[in-house]
Amino acid sequence: MDLTYRPRRLRRTTSLREMVCENSISPADFIYPLFVHEGSEVQPIGAMPGANRWSLDLLIGEVQRAWDLGIRCVVLFPKVSDKLKTEDGSECFNENGLIPRAIKRLKEEVPEMAVMTDVALDPYSCDGHDGIVSPEGVVLNDETISLLCRQAVVQAQVGADLIGPSDMMDGRVGAIREALDDEGFEHVGIISYTAKYSSAYYGPFREALDSAPRPAGGKPIPKDKSTYQMDPANAREAITEAQLDEQEGADILMVKPGLAYLDIIYRLREESQLPIAAYNVSGEFAMVKAAAEKGWINERDVVLETLLSFKRAGADLILTYHACDAARWLRDG
Ligand code: PBG
Repeated sequence: MDLTYRPRRLRRTTSLREMVCENSISPADFIYPLFVHEGSEVQPIGAMPGANRWSLDLLIGEVQRAWDLGIRCVVLFPKVSDKLKTEDGSECFNENGLIPRAIKRLKEEVPEMAVMTDVALDPYSCDGHDGIVSPEGVVLNDETISLLCRQAVVQAQVGADLIGPSDMMDGRVGAIREALDDEGFEHVGIISYTAKYSSAYYGPFREALDSAPRPAGGKPIPKDKSTYQMDPANAREAITEAQLDEQEGADILMVKPGLAYLDIIYRLREESQLPIAAYNVSGEFAMVKAAAEKGWINERDVVLETLLSFKRAGADLILTYHACDAARWLRDG
């Protein structure tokens, strides 16, 4: 054939392929989510094989292992005991709560590891919602924000580097920015869950924290989070959310879930100059693990390809439960 263009010329050898490679992943791109609980043992999580609820003592070893693999940030989620859960989730700003204690320990023992937090009421409220539910069954916006600000300030006080509001209340980024600044934490960053969709992919995470929306307090409780998390049908709305978060002072914008929302990552990358993070969520992790356990896919290859796809779509950072495995695979080739 008389072809002028033969794209295969640049795919012919490994060296040529490496020369024209457009994207790569490295452990410093990863943010490693970890679950903590009050117990003294490591508890496996049924729907997330390989992920665990860590005791505070054993958490340190896992964070050190991540650091040694080149991971530079962890995000912590608490499994709060039922007796501490209330209608207003006020345990979220207890200075001696599980998360503040975990952050303090971590900052003492692995001081350089950046610590990101999650700001929302769901692990602390008896109904599993991210905000306060009114007697009529409405998730209240402005009333919730004052609690979230207190939660964020406590996290900053114990040494958090990045505050991660995951609640999707309107105006929370600006309010948290102001609360942090008022308390002298102008150096603490905000990684906002900017485009967080009302997604079925969070199922295993809610099992890990026992935080799924559920009846409580004898009032009507919304069965899902669709009055505050975004409709999976919407893309333009993600741009509005990004513009608002940017105006309100977010330092990093996040898209969540990741894989089913690569188009949203791409759009935000076009729209904003801020770093973009993708959350490779629990349901995405569980699907890979389940298929790998059955021998239907090659876990290593699928994970590395998936993580690369987030970078290609425009993400700078990836929150992933695969972080340590992926870092090890990248190191060992
Ligand atoms: C809490 C929160 C959720 C996740 C992160 N923070 C669950 C939810 O909104 O119900 C999900 C993470 C995952 O599925 O991996 N607001």
